[in-house]
Amino acid sequence: MRMLTVEILTEGGGRARADDIEEIVDIGRRIGEVYDKAKNIHITSKGGTDITADISGMPPGYHSNRRGQIPFTRNPETGRLGGGTWPFGEVHVEPKPGTANGVVVWDVTAHYPAGRWEEPVALTIKDGRVTAIDGGTEAKEVRRYLETYGDESSWLVGGEMAIGTNRFCQPNTFMMRSEKKRYGQMHFGIGHGSDRGIVKSVLRHEGIVDRVTVVADDTVVCDNGEIVV
Ligand SMILES: [Fe+2]
Repeated sequence: MRMLTVEILTEGGGRARADDIEEIVDIGRRIGEVYDKAKNIHITSKGGTDITADISGMPPGYHSNRRGQIPFTRNPETGRLGGGTWPFGEVHVEPKPGTANGVVVWDVTAHYPAGRWEEPVALTIKDGRVTAIDGGTEAKEVRRYLETYGDESSWLVGGEMAIGTNRFCQPNTFMMRSEKKRYGQMHFGIGHGSDRGIVKSVLRHEGIVDRVTVVADDTVVCDNGEIVV
């Protein structure tokens, strides 16, 4: 569920004003500069996430250029409006297909099942492919969703690993539209790749990993939910 609500706009991430957007863009540029140089990423969380992947191979300056610009403006060269979602604030990276290994624990909510979760869902990932989905009712529902509506590539990584950068998005809303942008958490997606054009699927299924620690090569980017670059 990615519904935009009045509360998100008036009490949550939608409160960000021009100065706040500039700060979010600055955080994005700083993280982007680290990702532009890094080969390996290591993501952990107190909820049990522990995964590594290769994030290299993107064009030079890809992340810092993309994140270091104010969104919703027109590209002077192409005349096209630039991207951006509201509430605003994330920095994502798509790993090289086949390189993600470890465990991701979605511990807040996900696109499906929507709303507040009782039990976390653990994805075991081997060589860029989800090989097991463990947990309770929610895990069963995630499996059913992928089997019913997905395709072969919906189980691949693919997707994106994205740190939220909007301090106005409150915790415990259990709404993806807001949780995805909440400062210091991660939306981790499987299925359709965000940037590389290699993993193609009818689905990208994303869930929330709370208070992540992200290390790119030897640089700590985010420490237990605090962005430190
Ligand atoms: Fe994203």
